[in-house]
Amino acid sequence: MSLEKNNTPINNHTKHRHLKLGLFGFGCVGQGLYHVLDETPGIKAEIKRICVKHRNKTRPLPASLFTFNATEILTDPDIDVVVELIDDADAAFEIVKTALRNGKAVVTANKKMLAEHLEEIYQLQQQYGKPVLYEGSVCGSIPILRNLEEYYDNDLLAGIEGIFNGSTNYILTKVFEEKTSYADALKKAQELGFAESDPSLDVQGFDAKFKLVIAITHTFGVFVKPEDVINIGIDRISDLDLKFARDNRYAIKLIARAFKIENRVFGFVAPQFVESAHPLYAVRNEYNAVQVQSAFAEQQLFVGKGAGSYPTGSAVLSDISALTYDYQYEYKKLHQLHDLSFSNRLTVEAFVSFDQSTKISISDFEQFESGYASHGKQYMVGKVGLEKLNAWSKLEGVGIILAPNATLVPQTETVKTKQTILV
Ligand code: HSE
Repeated sequence: MSLEKNNTPINNHTKHRHLKLGLFGFGCVGQGLYHVLDETPGIKAEIKRICVKHRNKTRPLPASLFTFNATEILTDPDIDVVVELIDDADAAFEIVKTALRNGKAVVTANKKMLAEHLEEIYQLQQQYGKPVLYEGSVCGSIPILRNLEEYYDNDLLAGIEGIFNGSTNYILTKVFEEKTSYADALKKAQELGFAESDPSLDVQGFDAKFKLVIAITHTFGVFVKPEDVINIGIDRISDLDLKFARDNRYAIKLIARAFKIENRVFGFVAPQFVESAHPLYAVRNEYNAVQVQSAFAEQQLFVGKGAGSYPTGSAVLSDISALTYDYQYEYKKLHQLHDLSFSNRLTVEAFVSFDQSTKISISDFEQFESGYASHGKQYMVGKVGLEKLNAWSKLEGVGIILAPNATLVPQTETVKTKQTILV
């Protein structure tokens, strides 16, 4: 309830529209959405139809609610909002485009599709005048996108960093604290519905990168292509790395980060040793965390479940609720910040482990700090260019973990003009 200027009470709730939803996908998140919607009496929305792929699956709802024909939803004039929760990013993009073209708002949690097409999706929203909301795509239940858009509207953001993937945090927690094997922890993360159907997207850092790409647009107003952002995963972490972490009272976390220095935005995903005093140390299991560094509010930490049926379903429901009062992202930073460009020209401090046969030497480091050999492996610690680190991460048997509180230093950029390259 609020007061008009003449003190007449207004019931804001009556302004909310009642929405009819067409849902695509009835997997982990789709079922989670169905449940949280069912359990939330105040929400002015109902699922009219659900489009699914597999005809022979038994489902807990009446068959009449389901269709196998996408057009039935996409052309139904009665449906206001298409909620896209399928696994296939290419098919999801087709659904989103058709829905917008047909005058429907869209809610999606498909981070891969969003990261690959965000600029186009932004333009399609302008073209068709219908919103696409996707809070559930980044860090599950943590309301980070709407906060970046609204709360940090005018604040000068220096950076965001955090744990953007629930499965890898769950795996690292189990392996580290309970000495569960990596394979068993991954299997459990799959059983619990945290992992992607292709879990290499989780463990190789792609999923965290897709989320980072989306967050970068809402933090700095820059569109970045996922292939330009470096992701180093947790799949090469060895028993010796875990022992080193335990001996030094570190945890290992897969950290996604993006920050702005002058007119350059840097961002990447990599595992890192984390000291016990670090705010991300205590973020365990499938929990995610986002630390926002702003000029005036300084550091703020958001923590919440980053994966799972109900946590992600609740973020999707929050988007549906926002559509009942016609909320849309304004992409405010896009209009506020200019002349920013994305760069990987960064020197980072890392622990690099590799087999004796791998050709990495002290001279490859910009600044070599220490090194030793153990159990047939070499370890080197030092400062090295991020692009070189990325190339090493693709070599067989090489493991990379950033140093605790690793220094991250921008390198001088090569300046290009149309004709000449000036160094
Ligand atoms: N596989 C994802 C994760 C699901 O583990 O974080 C939530 O986006």
